[in-house]
Amino acid sequence: MTATAQQVSESTTLSTLMREGSMAEHREAEGSAFMSTLTDGGVSEAGYAQYLAMYREVYATLESVASDLADHPVAGRLIDPRLDRLAAIEADLDFWSQGERPAVDSRAVDAYVAKVEASRTDPVLFVAHHYTRYLGDLSGGQVIGRLLTREFGLQPGEGVAFYAFGEIPKPKPYKDAYRATLDTLPVEAVDRPRIVDEVRSVFGLNGAIFAELTARLDEFRRTR
Ligand code: HEM
Repeated sequence: MTATAQQVSESTTLSTLMREGSMAEHREAEGSAFMSTLTDGGVSEAGYAQYLAMYREVYATLESVASDLADHPVAGRLIDPRLDRLAAIEADLDFWSQGERPAVDSRAVDAYVAKVEASRTDPVLFVAHHYTRYLGDLSGGQVIGRLLTREFGLQPGEGVAFYAFGEIPKPKPYKDAYRATLDTLPVEAVDRPRIVDEVRSVFGLNGAIFAELTARLDEFRRTR
């Protein structure tokens, strides 16, 4: 007997649905001109500082919502202060902007912050916000940190605190445990597709930030 699409999705784990449901969006994010120029070492210090300043707003909101939801029976199971990135982003901002932090005037950031804020009162959706950023930082983020260090000839750890999880020395077992937690969250069947849709939408919100940065690439191109 062939399983129907519904049966398949009911038996598929949430972590698989989230990863597979956002593969196309992930590929698109990786391929954005700003990200590929950044990982090729072609974005200037000012450009990377602008990127950090935008994400500072996003993580300030993520971590404010996380502290509100720490005891929530679903979202609270993922929340872990060892993941907090705000202080690391602040430190990197000081490094890359050399004192004068860039202003943020961005519709993409405003839309992203609003969407994270909305999950404060719809906490199962915070699962999608948490997963997309923190599992990403523990994955591709590690690659970005190494490339920046190499391309800018930095001392180990310099300017890349964003990707250094001091209290999580090995991302792989942490990510495996995180996925196992996702798969045992007490999520109602009706909420599973809502979470997967939210992951896609969060990728889109990140993509909108990259699009704004790509539109400014001429200003942010590094002269080597
Ligand atoms: C240059 C950009 C990027 C590169 C090179 C990259 C690379 C990667 C790689 C290699 C993995 C797999 C790691 C593993 O198997 O353990 C991964 C996973 C992931 N990435 Fe990215 N990524 C990029 C951008 C992004 C962005 C912009 C986001 C979200 C905003 C993101 C979110 C994720 C997530 C959530 C995972 C975990 C998937 C899962 O196993 O469930 N990535 N990334």
